[in-house]
Amino acid sequence: MKTKVYETVKKQILATIEGETNITAKMATISCLLKQSFDYFYWCGFYVVDPLKPEELVVGPYQGTMGCLRIPKGKGVCGTAFLEQETQIVEDVHAIENHITCDVNSQSEIVVPVFFDGKIIAVLDVDSDKVNSFDDIDKKYLEEIINEAF
Ligand code: SME
Repeated sequence: MKTKVYETVKKQILATIEGETNITAKMATISCLLKQSFDYFYWCGFYVVDPLKPEELVVGPYQGTMGCLRIPKGKGVCGTAFLEQETQIVEDVHAIENHITCDVNSQSEIVVPVFFDGKIIAVLDVDSDKVNSFDDIDKKYLEEIINEAF
């Protein structure tokens, strides 16, 4: 079920952004198409490495309720993905200490690093309003979409 939706949305995203070089346009399109494909995607968007403060992420294009503006490297799930440069999956965000609560309705989370020219430039953050929403299928497809899009 999930796999089928990912197959469809992946094609839709890659077709829509084909030839587009602007990073903001790509991030906005990816956030929108992912959010509307899955009803458990409560918050979906990007935190971008701030060129003026390279140890910090700053909020980028997203869909959902208000997100916090800045996340230092190592802080929260996004900051951990930024530091470790690896996808993070959290089954229950309220069960871990290193989580930043932007919205109490968020229950589980996946964060995927975004690389461009071999360097991390952002993370894709997806929050669900249900616990344990994300698994290896989400990881595989979100990583594929991000790697092919940037
Ligand atoms: N929960 C994230 C912060 C971003 S918001 O969920 C939109 C974190 O712990 O990094």
